Amino acid sequence: MNRNISRGLNMLTQLRSYEPPKWASSLKDIPQFFVQLAQRNTPIHPWNISNLPEGFSLSIKRDDLTGSTLSGNKVRKLEFLLADALNKKCDTIFTCGGVQSNHCRATAVAARQLGLDCYLFLRSSEQSTDIGCKGNLFLNKMVGSRIIVVPKLQYKSGLKQMMEKMAEKLKQQGSSAYLIEIGGSSYTGMFGYLTAFQEMIEQNVLEDYDDIVVTVGSGGTASGIAIGNYLTGSKLKCHAVNVSDNAAYFYNKINEDLRSGGIDVKAEDIIDIIDGYKGGGYGVSAQHELENIIEISRTTGILVDPVYNIKAIRGMLTEMKSNPGRFKGKRVLYIHTGGVFGLYDGRMDSLITQSAEGTNQVFYWGDINDSLPC
Ligand SMILES: Cc1ncc(COP(=O)(O)O)c(C=O)c1O
Repeated sequence: MNRNISRGLNMLTQLRSYEPPKWASSLKDIPQFFVQLAQRNTPIHPWNISNLPEGFSLSIKRDDLTGSTLSGNKVRKLEFLLADALNKKCDTIFTCGGVQSNHCRATAVAARQLGLDCYLFLRSSEQSTDIGCKGNLFLNKMVGSRIIVVPKLQYKSGLKQMMEKMAEKLKQQGSSAYLIEIGGSSYTGMFGYLTAFQEMIEQNVLEDYDDIVVTVGSGGTASGIAIGNYLTGSKLKCHAVNVSDNAAYFYNKINEDLRSGGIDVKAEDIIDIIDGYKGGGYGVSAQHELENIIEISRTTGILVDPVYNIKAIRGMLTEMKSNPGRFKGKRVLYIHTGGVFGLYDGRMDSLITQSAEGTNQVFYWGDINDSLPC
């Protein structure tokens, strides 16, 4: 069988028809299909993080466990976006993000699993192809995605037109590209977290918690959770800590999804965007944030990423302490959105090897003189 035919068959068998939860059935433009990519029913368990302010209890939903190479929150959006691509008979995916984008890595891996080609337009301060192969880049290269390094200036203005132009060229060669916007945060992608909200309902979240906290980077995850929470009439309060832009930007983004779905409510009334915790800016890590990551992994065994989750966790803990009235109650569920490969990009290396806190617990056999180091 020729490769294109077998690839075509492979793609068709992946599509499954999508039935939204009942409470979402009045939404407009519900996707017809999805492809199953995520490991479902990610666990929810108590999280004994240190420095939790008095009176609060904290649990964690482990959406860092939606898969291995294909892990984190992005996988849930890709279930709908890649289904849309397959349904439209596209054979190539174009998407964009920062050089260590988790979204791009998840897209590259998922596209390959579905037999699709993938081009990643990655923003970098490098003016060459010399971007190395650490962290998410390692996986992008392992699955053979094609990477186009985009300087920061061009990334800001003109990238979309460039991607469309390239898609046109591909068309002339007989291929068809599907463009996924930054972070996969389109209305279609939002269904990933709308569906995750149903999963959480089945895990008794509505009864067991008062508040849900998540991080927000491009908006789709927070949007799906907030819309799901609103449509079900749940009494939970949703919060999202932004790691880029500002609260107004994300309210606007979620309002767009609400309009697309035909829902007559304002984002400002269904989610609390917690601004003020992006530190040095998107993707910039302060030493104390990196030290905090190490502390959390050493005390709880759960690794959090430097770009999204550590900033959101710090923001949540600070607000619990200084502004507890912002929360509806005391039983809080934090949604871990993954991004673990961002820890392997080199920024932790010196801290790990020099840490006086004992992260560097490596001893040479010949030096320990029959006694176990402690
Ligand atoms: C690990 C991780 N967490 C959270 C987010 C933010 O999710 P969203 O883009 O849906 O706001 C992203 C991507 O942007 C991410 O890679």
